Amino acid sequence: MRRFLVAGNWKMNTNRASGQELAAALAVDSPAAEDGVEVLVCPPYPYLTTISDKVAGSGVQVGAQDVYFEASGAFTGEVAVDMLRDVGCDYVIIGHSERRHVMGETDETINRKVKAAIAGGLKVILCVGELLSDREGGHTESVLDAQMTGGLADISEQDGKDLVIAYEPVWAIGTGVTASPEQAESAHEHLRNWIANRYNSTFSDNVRILYGGSVKPDNAETLMGQTNVDGALVGGASLKPDLFVPIIDAARKLATA
Ligand code: PGA
Repeated sequence: MRRFLVAGNWKMNTNRASGQELAAALAVDSPAAEDGVEVLVCPPYPYLTTISDKVAGSGVQVGAQDVYFEASGAFTGEVAVDMLRDVGCDYVIIGHSERRHVMGETDETINRKVKAAIAGGLKVILCVGELLSDREGGHTESVLDAQMTGGLADISEQDGKDLVIAYEPVWAIGTGVTASPEQAESAHEHLRNWIANRYNSTFSDNVRILYGGSVKPDNAETLMGQTNVDGALVGGASLKPDLFVPIIDAARKLATA
């Protein structure tokens, strides 16, 4: 049985005070690690230390929204894997659609980041997802395949033991338009089959595939209730405890069903 992962991607939101308040509320809701559901928050870089301190000892884990692939040196503005470990991160999101489409990250860059993160002991959430034009043109699966092939180049089964995939259709991110449960399940099933073909079925059975894109309390249970959906990567609704906690609760309900 795959354990649900509900992850909040705060993006470039919050400040020191509001982030601490949010983290404190989540730590109260998740006082200890749970069997069925993992809870994760991914604040902006400057607040990672303070948020890690805030959730220390609770069931809430901390991740970063990106990382650089070099270990150290003259890379102005970048942040290394060891630095993230040093400030309490367990996870890192790599290849988010905003990194791909706003910052111009390629699959090659994303792959270098995935390799560096895994080598340095961070758990990777690799994001993939098609544009609306890809979907309308009938190219969803080929786009996902290319992102998986590129992002996971040279990653062995052993490397990928903590790998998480997030399927985030770009047209559903921050738009209020959610993929239907059928659209999500179909993409997730495709991704799981891709993993089974590239690796093997034991590995693909264990990899968690999160859905992301306008997840809200009222659609979370149906989306995460799909066979191949193992949690959610939540943007907007992760910024308010009264929206994020019901999404975690939906996963708790499914985990004990
Ligand atoms: P959203 O963002 O929930 O605001 O659509 C999801 C994401 O980009 O991870």
